[in-house]
Amino acid sequence: MKKVLVATEKPFAPVAVKGIREVVEKAGYGLLLLEKYTAPEQLYEAASQADAMIVRSDLVTREVLNAAPNLKIVVRAGAGYDNIDLAAATEKGVVAMNTPGQNSNAVAELAFGMMVFNARAQFSGKAGTELRGKKLGIHAFGYVGKYVAMIAKGFGMEVSASDPFIPQEEISAAGVKPVDSVEELYRSCQYISLHIPSNDKTKKSIGAALLSLMPDNGVLVNTARKEVIHEEELMQIMESKPKFQYLTDVAPEAAALFQEKFPGRYFGTPKKMGAQTEEANINAGIAAAEQIRDFFEKGDVRFKVNK
Ligand code: 3PG
Repeated sequence: MKKVLVATEKPFAPVAVKGIREVVEKAGYGLLLLEKYTAPEQLYEAASQADAMIVRSDLVTREVLNAAPNLKIVVRAGAGYDNIDLAAATEKGVVAMNTPGQNSNAVAELAFGMMVFNARAQFSGKAGTELRGKKLGIHAFGYVGKYVAMIAKGFGMEVSASDPFIPQEEISAAGVKPVDSVEELYRSCQYISLHIPSNDKTKKSIGAALLSLMPDNGVLVNTARKEVIHEEELMQIMESKPKFQYLTDVAPEAAALFQEKFPGRYFGTPKKMGAQTEEANINAGIAAAEQIRDFFEKGDVRFKVNK
């Protein structure tokens, strides 16, 4: 019997695990569950029995893959697959997939949750500001960016987007203003919501060159990855622009320092919370289980992300 391991350091909601189990068992496979593990050795041990794996931001390193002789497929239940060593997976003949779009609305809602929280002076009782009429720039117009745009329009914001991989007509069709360059986006918007992936080209790419273009009361909202931020340069910008705010769904490396230096202008979730809703867990978790079933039963590799 094939074994599907669900390995989640940050567990899915129980209702999602139930749904995953149903798909896996109906296909005639067994489910192995490893949650809240604290050491990679626990993951190696669990992976040693797995034919397939479902993970979230869990690190699927070469060591994990080496520890899993039967592994044929690993599915990242979510969007970003920067946690998977794709080259090692390819070398070992393991198919890697993601589940695009399945948790995107949850991430977009959190971006707005953080924006409202900070616009309202972190619910401190002081007078805050409103989002209506403010300019929002969406940096990368994928699934999350599109949901952010939809919500922003409901709030009455003026929405622009920049994405070199998406035709401008597609951005316009969503009722969003396409801008020609990322510099123009940062120059023209008070709010910037980041939705770029973390890879060799984007790591530390959000730094002084772009942030200095933003207005003095700029607000950078990061529900993407902490790695895309150049933290030292962001800190310098926040020092030189005393109203600039940084809201992030992944605490920066220097979280304590941001907290100490910029009270009221910095907010970071203690744990990545963007996709942490029952709905997102159900959608992404069940999609992952179905993709594994379809891979084994039909050879379906539609969502493959490695070569
Ligand atoms: C993603 O890439 O799908 C999101 O960042 C969510 O990550 P998580 O599953 O670890 O919450």
